[in-house]
Amino acid sequence: MANTMQGKTVLISGATNGIGKQAAVDLAQMGAQVVIIGRSKARTDEALREIQTASGNNDVHALLADLSSMAEVRRVADDFRKQFSRLDVLLNNAGGVFNSRQETVDGYEMTFALNHLSYFLLTNLLLDMLKASAPSRIVNVSSEAQSGGALDFDDLQFKNTAYGMGGFKAYAQSKLMNVMFTYELARRLAGTGVTANVLHPGFVNTGFGKNNKGLMQFVMGIITVFAIKVEDGAKTSVYLASSPEVEGVTGKYFDKSKPKRSSPASYDEAAQKRLWEISEQLTGIASAAAV
Ligand SMILES: NC(=O)c1ccc[n+]([C@@H]2O[C@H](COP(=O)([O-])OP(=O)(O)OC[C@H]3O[C@@H](n4cnc5c(N)ncnc54)[C@H](OP(=O)(O)O)[C@@H]3O)[C@@H](O)[C@H]2O)c1
Repeated sequence: MANTMQGKTVLISGATNGIGKQAAVDLAQMGAQVVIIGRSKARTDEALREIQTASGNNDVHALLADLSSMAEVRRVADDFRKQFSRLDVLLNNAGGVFNSRQETVDGYEMTFALNHLSYFLLTNLLLDMLKASAPSRIVNVSSEAQSGGALDFDDLQFKNTAYGMGGFKAYAQSKLMNVMFTYELARRLAGTGVTANVLHPGFVNTGFGKNNKGLMQFVMGIITVFAIKVEDGAKTSVYLASSPEVEGVTGKYFDKSKPKRSSPASYDEAAQKRLWEISEQLTGIASAAAV
């Protein structure tokens, strides 16, 4: 791969496995300084070694955080800020599906907190560095599951409504939030030189869903036979993080490295703003700090 990312610093969440780890290898191969966030020290150390070896680039570093905890998101943003002087690409990728309703240390529904609030908070906490490094990019990993998502503002965290569909209802909602967050973010960042795009990686053979036991594990095991390999699953993330073709392109949903319409619900600007305000309140980020 060409050394097109030389001099650029990329921060990737969820890079101990799957799409995030492969994107880390590809971007490190292109010469980027890559910083990964993992939650387990053992898995993160192992991933770090693998990424360095596979890419032939030792300028790869690791930070630790359980991103379902908003205090840990804040701490890891501080750790990044202390250790690195620039941020050219933030790749929000960590995510999961949970077949029974769980709550985080903050008392939030797990899928909502990990898949949406962590993207929202980490991005807002690092925006000043992204702006100072402009032209820079925010890349959010969503899913085509966004098309089946719906936001019930009366119960975003499934406190009173059935969790349902083995966690896929909460997952689809969170992935729709990724798209809506990106569109609102792109509008707020207009003129700053920081772009924000969102993507579906394809149906990829990773560890996704395999954290669950029972039927979900069995079903995921079977359907991954039809999935694409992880090298292909990372391509759209890497394209949006690095390609000159998308320099200046912002506020778009991509699939197979091509822009595509997302679900009609995702374009509801009033709902995007409402989600933004709720996310500000729940993450405790002061309005002045968020864009
Ligand atoms: N695979 C697909 O077919 C597919 C399709 C559409 C969208 N996506 C999206 O792609 C993204 C990556 O998924 P993947 O398929 O690569 O899945 P994966 O192999 O399960 O990787 C998920 C990554 O997220 C990390 N993670 C999970 N919970 C975390 C937490 N609380 N704190 C910090 N990190 C955490 C995992 O770390 P550990 O190693 O500690 O578990 C792992 O590095 C997700 O956003 C997913 O929604 C995947």
